[in-house]
Amino acid sequence: MPEEKFISIAEALKKGSGKVSVRGWIYRERGSNEFKFLVLRDSSDIIQCVLKKEKFKDKWEEIDKLQVEASVEISGTIKEDKRAPTGYEIEADKIIIVGKSESFPINKSLNEELLGDRRHLWLRSRKMNAIMKVRDTVLRAMREHWHKKGFYEYHSPSLLGMQAEGGSTLFKVDYFGKPLYLSQTWQLHAEAGIFSLEKIFTIQPSFRAEKSKTSRHLTEYWHAEMEAAWEGFDYLQDDAEQLIKHIIEKVLQERKPELEILGRDAKKLEPVLKKKFPRITYDEALKLLKEKKKISIQWGKDLRTIEEDALSAIYDTPIIVRNYPKIVKAFYMKETPRTPEARKGKETVLGFDMIAPEGYGELVGGSQREEDIEKLKKNLKAQGEDPSKYEFYFDTRRYGSVPHGGYGMGVERVISWICGLETIKDAIAFPRTMTRYSP
Ligand code: 4AD
Repeated sequence: MPEEKFISIAEALKKGSGKVSVRGWIYRERGSNEFKFLVLRDSSDIIQCVLKKEKFKDKWEEIDKLQVEASVEISGTIKEDKRAPTGYEIEADKIIIVGKSESFPINKSLNEELLGDRRHLWLRSRKMNAIMKVRDTVLRAMREHWHKKGFYEYHSPSLLGMQAEGGSTLFKVDYFGKPLYLSQTWQLHAEAGIFSLEKIFTIQPSFRAEKSKTSRHLTEYWHAEMEAAWEGFDYLQDDAEQLIKHIIEKVLQERKPELEILGRDAKKLEPVLKKKFPRITYDEALKLLKEKKKISIQWGKDLRTIEEDALSAIYDTPIIVRNYPKIVKAFYMKETPRTPEARKGKETVLGFDMIAPEGYGELVGGSQREEDIEKLKKNLKAQGEDPSKYEFYFDTRRYGSVPHGGYGMGVERVISWICGLETIKDAIAFPRTMTRYSP
């Protein structure tokens, strides 16, 4: 006997007629005295299979007992059937039960917490399957974008002796009796890398001890970051905008069926491709919030979630807010060049955030980097940091310093927005938050 040639369910649906062999897991099952209907799923799609008792007399007892999530191989004839969930049905000639299933502990009545406890099983759902496919496309699009522009993929350590994004969100690790921290960003080690490779990117986990239990914060998230030598502030914003546009273009090309499964209106993403993203200064943002949203913010305060949401509601594309007050931003951001008398005490930085539409929050944070060692030391001291831990970083300014900058994009934030998710936890297979760390 020749070995069975299995095709994916998607390929079977495309074929639409004739003999096919498929394999997968039982997604739904129902039976009667004469028939067993099995909706089979694999990674590609679902299809209804019908088994007639008269054809399977010797195996019927076993078939009749099949439960959801049992794994099977089925061969038969596929034909169009408008009543079937994906429009086709396989009338089975042969079934092999590969792995029986116990009663599957997931059903419609489970709340988010219980689904979280059974995450390893919930990954099989159509919802998670669709999100993980979008995620695959997003990550591929990121690499494609940067590789096309001549960037190199470069990686930094996750165990570090210092902070870059403020001490309050550091995870401490006992490293052979010495305190180290999980990295919040690749940035400081990326700045060393550009002196060799000039333009680099990474996609790797970052860690933030976020106490906030919001729908936007993970404690371990995937961080897509770039760093470029010789480039200025506008280049960074241009690149972040091009990157988002490329991601959305790819998702709309490849993942419309998945967006439909997720109930996400793909039209909401289309303006991203057609329009230039508005770029406004922090000062302009405060003015807009006051005029359009009746929200007053004292100059020098960071924009909080509610203010970001109010701003994003004014537009249907992501927006870039730049030139934030120096006091709310990281020590490495370069001051906005200005005349000495201008706006005394109101220093701003060449830093920007990109905020998603529809209230999905900050997608990107980036900046031009400060090159002056004395200013860097002053900024660190002002934040209560010990500059002596940063000597390797200052070396990047000592030996042939060049203008440079970069940004970081929260991969799960982007996926949440694209998929229209209620919580960022669903943008990753096994989320980590303050209260969720298993399985
Ligand atoms: O704005 P952030 O803190 O910037 C940096 O870390 C820079 N060092 C990046 C750089 O210039 N290379 O973080 C960048 C992005 C945010 O815009 C957000 O999308 C995401 O990382 N992010 C989070 N995503 C999920 N959960 C969290 N707790 C996040 N914190 C930041």
